[in-house]
Amino acid sequence: MAILKIVKYGDPVLRKKTAPVTEITDDIIQLAEDMLETMYAAPGVGLAGPQVGVSLQICVIDVVPEGKRNPIVLINPKVLSGEDKVELEEGCLSFPKIYEKVKRWNKVRVEYVDLKGNLKEVEVEGFLAKAFQHEIDHLNGKVFIDYLPDWKRKLVEKEIRRRKKGKNW
Ligand code: NI
Repeated sequence: MAILKIVKYGDPVLRKKTAPVTEITDDIIQLAEDMLETMYAAPGVGLAGPQVGVSLQICVIDVVPEGKRNPIVLINPKVLSGEDKVELEEGCLSFPKIYEKVKRWNKVRVEYVDLKGNLKEVEVEGFLAKAFQHEIDHLNGKVFIDYLPDWKRKLVEKEIRRRKKGKNW
């Protein structure tokens, strides 16, 4: 197990569309374990491949890091459908200390492959549904500030530029 370096917004890997995982190799299993360890250490509730510089369709989620651990590893995930929009504040490990309200589905049906190579289809809701959508977006080169109105996104980008200048990003 190893803690990986988390890339911050501005790194082009976060904007790249990821490639599907074609085989669950030992390297993929190791990567998933390292990503979980990195996420717990951060601490965070989700982490996607591009955020550790790996442009592959893999992400990890655990929305209850304080209590009993419930790690979920999603390989090649896809949102099949969504229901009811809800606006909630969110953050991202690639955007330290930035929190913004984002409107997403409250309930989603998601298809993915698990670490054993089984194709799964699940329906999740609430905070977990939000985490699934946020992480799957990362695999498509999309980040949460993309949902903000232009004027708000510009303010966030200005703040990030300011922090980069101060070597605080
Ligand atoms: Ni994120």
